Amino acid sequence: MRLVSASLVGLLAATSTAHAADGDAKRGAQLYRACVACHSLEPGVHLSGPSLTGLWDKPAGKIAGFVRYSKGLKSADFAWNAETLFAWVADPQVMVPGTYMTFRGIEEDQQRADIVAFLKLAMAPGGDQRVVEQGLLPAAFVRGPRPQPLASAPDKARVTAIRHCGDSYFITTADGATTPFWEMNVRLKLDTRGTGPAPDKPVIAGAGMQGDRVSVIFSGVEEIKRFVEEKCSTVPGSP
Ligand code: HEC
Repeated sequence: MRLVSASLVGLLAATSTAHAADGDAKRGAQLYRACVACHSLEPGVHLSGPSLTGLWDKPAGKIAGFVRYSKGLKSADFAWNAETLFAWVADPQVMVPGTYMTFRGIEEDQQRADIVAFLKLAMAPGGDQRVVEQGLLPAAFVRGPRPQPLASAPDKARVTAIRHCGDSYFITTADGATTPFWEMNVRLKLDTRGTGPAPDKPVIAGAGMQGDRVSVIFSGVEEIKRFVEEKCSTVPGSP
């Protein structure tokens, strides 16, 4: 019985002209995968963008714990519903000029209707759990990434000293090795989440792209100041 009604709904959605009200939540869930790198549905867990949980029918740009809104979205005077989300996913820049949401938009009306149908479920109170229970989305996509805790990094990843000289960093790790890096290939990052490195134990990690780029991840700003030292070698002929 369930199957029959589900396919009937699908048929109706496909044959009628696309409108924000007649999308297919299942197809929408697939499209929503484009959003999960920047949004979780877990209450209070903000990534690059704010958690979307519970935002259905709520005013835009007003989550108290999210501090990185653009001026435009912060001062917006509308609520999230089928109409506003339909316009937002079409082109965020057109709806709120200067928004920080870098998403190029979904062109097709039917696809927009589908994602709005999904968001109506997902952004309702308790929607984060409901979309998992209904098999629309794996739990991992709802709660956002769970990075590996860095507190237990092995010796070769644990940074003990960072020297900068000329255009280079010389990074020493707990296994005793010192490795030179071109300064443009080193990113200094902070991770203040519970998954970050332990205090005073920054960690070096490959940053992808080409093999010569690395990130050094610190647990706080003060630590960066203490660890990174401008100093050239006293050994003649070496930097
Ligand atoms: C590259 C990262 C990124 C992607 C991808 C992305 N967003 Fe966003 N989103 C953001 C950021 C950043 C903001 C805050 C924008 C601002 O302040 O202007 C935002 C804001 C929002 C808001 C408003 C939240 C509020 O508090 O009012 C909604 C709704 C939203 N996004 C939905 C989506 C949906 C749905 C998708 C996928 C179709 C998506 N986003 C894809 C980064 C992203």
